[in-house]
Amino acid sequence: MEDGGGDCLNMFCLEKIWQNYVSFAKEYSLYGIIGALLLAVISPLIFSSINAHKTKNRKRAVPVDAGGEPGLTMRNSRFSSLIQFPWDGATTVAALFEQVCEKHSKDRSLGMRKLISREVVESGNGRKFEKLHLGEYVWQTYGLTFERACSFASGLIKMGHERDSHVAIFSDTRAEWFIAAQGCFRQNITVVTIYASLGEDALVHSLNETQVSTLICDFKQLKKLPAISSRLPSIKRVIYFEDEAVDAADGGIVDHLKHWTTLSFAEVESLGRTNPADPTLPSSTDVAVVMYTSGSTGYPKGVMITHGNIVATAAAVRTIIPDLGPSDVYMAYLPLAHVFELAAEVVMFSAGCAIGYSSALTMTDTSNKIKRGTKGDASVLKPTLMITVPAILDRIRDGVLKKVEEKGGVAKKLFNVGYKRRLMAIDGKWLGAWGLERLLWDNFVFKPIRSIVGGRIRLMLSGGAPLYADTQRFINICLGVPIGQGYGLTETCAGAAFSEFDDPSVGRVGPPLPCCYIKLVSWEEGGYTISDSPMPRGEVVVGGHSITKGYYNNDEKTNEVYKVDERGMRWFYTGDVGQFHPDGCLEIIDRKKDIVKLQHGEYISLGKIEAALGTSNYVENIMVYADPFHNYCVALAVPSRQILEKWARDAGIEYSKFEELCQSDRAIQEVHQSLVKAAKTAGLDKFETPEKMALLPDPWTPETGLVTAALKLKREQLKAKFKDELHKLYH
Ligand SMILES: *[C@@H]1O[C@H](CO)[C@@H](O)[C@H](O)[C@H]1NC(C)=O
Ligand SMILES: *[C@@H]1O[C@H](CO)[C@@H](O)[C@H](O)[C@H]1NC(C)=O
Repeated sequence: MEDGGGDCLNMFCLEKIWQNYVSFAKEYSLYGIIGALLLAVISPLIFSSINAHKTKNRKRAVPVDAGGEPGLTMRNSRFSSLIQFPWDGATTVAALFEQVCEKHSKDRSLGMRKLISREVVESGNGRKFEKLHLGEYVWQTYGLTFERACSFASGLIKMGHERDSHVAIFSDTRAEWFIAAQGCFRQNITVVTIYASLGEDALVHSLNETQVSTLICDFKQLKKLPAISSRLPSIKRVIYFEDEAVDAADGGIVDHLKHWTTLSFAEVESLGRTNPADPTLPSSTDVAVVMYTSGSTGYPKGVMITHGNIVATAAAVRTIIPDLGPSDVYMAYLPLAHVFELAAEVVMFSAGCAIGYSSALTMTDTSNKIKRGTKGDASVLKPTLMITVPAILDRIRDGVLKKVEEKGGVAKKLFNVGYKRRLMAIDGKWLGAWGLERLLWDNFVFKPIRSIVGGRIRLMLSGGAPLYADTQRFINICLGVPIGQGYGLTETCAGAAFSEFDDPSVGRVGPPLPCCYIKLVSWEEGGYTISDSPMPRGEVVVGGHSITKGYYNNDEKTNEVYKVDERGMRWFYTGDVGQFHPDGCLEIIDRKKDIVKLQHGEYISLGKIEAALGTSNYVENIMVYADPFHNYCVALAVPSRQILEKWARDAGIEYSKFEELCQSDRAIQEVHQSLVKAAKTAGLDKFETPEKMALLPDPWTPETGLVTAALKLKREQLKAKFKDELHKLYH
């Protein structure tokens, strides 16, 4: 069964989504004209910049005295001491869960859509695609969620799982994932999570390293087990999530797993209902999750996240989201094996929100798995909050711009005028910001874009990687909502910095969350110091309650990047380079290991150059490489196929295959010129501008192992794979 890769974030096939946009475009140009006329009437509104000033001058973070290595340390200005728990008594995820379920027992907690029908369609080239017709969301209350978690926990114990051995969850995000994890927490059982995109060897390594005895997975992962079962000696039990949408033929898979005790999730729950076990509640320093994430080199490392870490992050993030409560609906679709999603779901349930499950392949009306003419998850759920990663937002932006460009004419003009007006308003140059004019643009120009994600989003959270300023603005305007940008790593349990929703600036990640301090430590060799002007710069070091316990079974690596200071505070050295703005907000400007010293002694930052060159229209993926034995850098780029082919047509270039086009000197020259131009625009030095480049035809996706799930480059893998190409560029 072809399902198009499923778990990875970039499968969010936005090309399709924006067909939605086009179908709205007719309506949009009509209303647009009316809008433009109205606008002409109300234009003489007063210019003002009062709005912007009030928030611009507020100090969002202030210096604080801290222990450990010397540096410049800041804390959130709203809290004089670090916060640790959402409220007294909620010291572990298990305690928090129990208290919330009692308080909100009648409120909606978890929702999944009912399957109406499923069909398999065959495309021209013989590939099979699954199409689903899904119904309304079916909700369970917090009361029921609690009962189910208790039953699952009891069932697990009854099956013979010993509390001090590990459970692993290896599955797409869904309600049962959440329930299973909560069940484990109530019995003080540590849950191991593994990115689904990590591949077989990483899976085997992670399960073996943590000696997992019970594996919980969905059907998709279950199918992979027979092939590797001989390499999983520690596994004794397998629990699988049933899937209404699974082929009858797939059902037979369980027969191939006879050497393990294999039960369905429902069977374990029912076992637990008849054999209730008393809870064994954890303490706040106990490890809740060992999270295996993709490293840029070698085997993945398991980060030990304690209950205390998770509740601290949740407590801090709650203070940022205004009016969070049971009337909020959160759309959950990122992998729960990703710390941002895990933290977000804990934040949501801590406030009694409704959590509706979705996936990248079913999210919108035009998503891959949604049967044509039926509704995608967002249209049915109408979420008020969602979390996303920059790669997705970048694609949304590119997709909209492309459609607008193709559309041309009045539609394009209106879009551009509307966009500019809203931009002025947000920048505080135009009071129309919150008034009639906003209403106009929002309703007539941007509404079609908003309706794609249900039309009710009030805040968007972004994390995982820095968001480009342009993209942030674009989403602000087109979706009409503020984006909170989070900065953090698995090692800091997501929580480190978070931009505040009343902050209209772009490109920064906000002040430290109130659960931790952020310190900049000078890095002389890289040329970043805390005495730099106009802003102090240095390596970003995070200390406080969200700093995790370290790497599982890897003290050496743990001691390298975690330090405990003389006052007992834990610090994590992120390897990122940042600067503090005058209001205390952090901006990430570089990455330590992406800096290379060239032959003549100049330091160049690969990430900075890539960000600049990425603005070229031709570039889909790009990696800059610098050999320290030369005095120039080179680039490997995957071109945007559509744009390069269009150029080739216009330039009258003949070729039979795209691969051939990528190798042609003229194409390389054309793209290279666009890079040189982008480098100039960004003010890069000559040695920062790639002297030569190669074009590679195949996109880099998480499945290829060349980028992480959050679409960050894996330099080592890229270097190994394209060794020959790089060699040629230097000879
Ligand atoms: C929870 O389990 C861990 C590991 O088995 C153990 O060290 C710890 O003492 C347990 N916590 C409590 C509160 O019993
Ligand atoms: C599992 O880990 C042990 C060491 O803890 C190692 O000796 C063994 O080879 C590993 N097995 C597999 C299948 O990776």
